[in-house]
Amino acid sequence: MKSRKGIVLAGGSGTRLYPLTIALSKQLLPVYDKPMIYYPISTLILAGIEEILIITTPSDLDQFQQLLGDGKKWGVHFTYLTQPEAGGIAQAFHLAEDFLDGYPSCLILGDNIHYGQGLFDIMQLADQQSEGATVFAYHVADPERYGIIDFDDEGNAISVEEKPEKPKSYWAITGLYFYDEKVIEYSKQIEPSARGEYEITAINDLYLQNKQLSVQKMGIGFAWFDTGTHDSLLEASNYVAALEKRQGLLIGCPEYCAYRRGLINRAQLEALAKPMGNSHYGARLVRE
Ligand code: TTP
Repeated sequence: MKSRKGIVLAGGSGTRLYPLTIALSKQLLPVYDKPMIYYPISTLILAGIEEILIITTPSDLDQFQQLLGDGKKWGVHFTYLTQPEAGGIAQAFHLAEDFLDGYPSCLILGDNIHYGQGLFDIMQLADQQSEGATVFAYHVADPERYGIIDFDDEGNAISVEEKPEKPKSYWAITGLYFYDEKVIEYSKQIEPSARGEYEITAINDLYLQNKQLSVQKMGIGFAWFDTGTHDSLLEASNYVAALEKRQGLLIGCPEYCAYRRGLINRAQLEALAKPMGNSHYGARLVRE
């Protein structure tokens, strides 16, 4: 099987975070001690993905490139594309056709934090699946805010709905999606929704209709945050701060994930840490 390529979707308008995001991309805002986009990039690196497309808005592109470069420092390769208007999450696949070039993909939203023991294992299972799609379901208190998946008594997925007024379950689909190469074809079949967006839920529904949608539940103890509101941004920062202080580790740290995956060696990790020695991020990096 061809090795999977990654996409971080880091455009959007961030209107729920105004005025924070009037002049700055949401995905460059801090979640405690690092820029938000470090978290989804770390997730992709942990999943073993080395070819990564970063999609931003035209006005934010320079800053992302300044922060992340070509990825070589972390042993990966970044390609950049811009999305002129926030036309929906599924638009990522209209933009990414040439980049994917027939390869299977993993899309992650730039404002999503996934963390927990076992994340590596469930992503590995998803990666090994050569056909169809895998999404992850997370029990939430406020299902009307998300893409919601419902199951029958045997635990098989039976419906997916975007932001339903009357949700059929409390299981939200997180912003991490594994697709085979058919995703490009499916992305061309869907029409914009009533709110004018190409919905990722419409793509997931096509996989479901074709009996090719696998779902992995993220159980109790997993953390999933989307950091799109002032409260969720603060909650994510508090969560990361509490765990990092208690354990003396770094969460959502691309350097460390790259080191653990063998993409960079100890000397390279130390060289990356050195200019950041004044921050606790830099100091912790060499303690990893
Ligand atoms: P959302 O939080 O749904 O949208 P947004 O970031 O534009 O924010 P708001 O609703 O406050 O205006 O987006 C989820 C993630 O997907 C986020 O990281 C931005 C990204 N995204 C894009 O890159 N392009 C898009 O067209 C959309 C809809 C989202």
